[in-house]
Amino acid sequence: MRKKIAIMGSGNGSNFEAIVKYFDGKPVDILCISNKDDAKILERAERLKIKSIILNFAQNEEFFSAQKFDLVVLAGYMRVLTPKTLANNRFINIHPSLLPAFKGLNAIEQAYNLGVKVTGVSVHWVNNELDGGKIIAQYPVLVEPFMNLMDLEAQIHELEHLLYPAVIDAVLYERVFNFSELLKGSKRCNSSGCGSGCHKMSLSR
Ligand code: GRF
Repeated sequence: MRKKIAIMGSGNGSNFEAIVKYFDGKPVDILCISNKDDAKILERAERLKIKSIILNFAQNEEFFSAQKFDLVVLAGYMRVLTPKTLANNRFINIHPSLLPAFKGLNAIEQAYNLGVKVTGVSVHWVNNELDGGKIIAQYPVLVEPFMNLMDLEAQIHELEHLLYPAVIDAVLYERVFNFSELLKGSKRCNSSGCGSGCHKMSLSR
């Protein structure tokens, strides 16, 4: 069955691009929404031939009350949404830390500067608290002694681009999946995988 999703971003849009490429050729219609008229995500939408609109924060409540999407995906959207905006649709977000640690801006840097040895990526349902809402999926990244902040950022973003589209796919079609499968063949996967189920995604809100 055809699905309709909105992807909301305020900035760069690299997750948006990864999601668009993942769903290329699949029965998923994507609308790009930005609250910033000069955001790079809008350039990416144009290049990728995805319809885009600019929606000021103040217009969100009215827009989302009238529109029904199968899922609304936040990808670098820099505002906390109001309960009224959230009421009529399901929203998810990605955050570059193992929530509830390091909420807010510069999460990767916050974690790195504190010297954590494990950080990662979280995908969660959105509520009206900053980076709040129940966790859907998480994946860890080990902070190795030789890594500088840029190395860590690169690993986290690479993981986001793998994890987020697959989680969106699973949420849309109500599939729970073992996302350690995603990393098979990559440098982060040992050949046996974890196998214990700790990397299984949960869909309960
Ligand atoms: C990502 O790191 C995401 O986790 C966070 O904002 C960043 C957005 O990056 N919520 P991009 O705009 O997708 O490149």
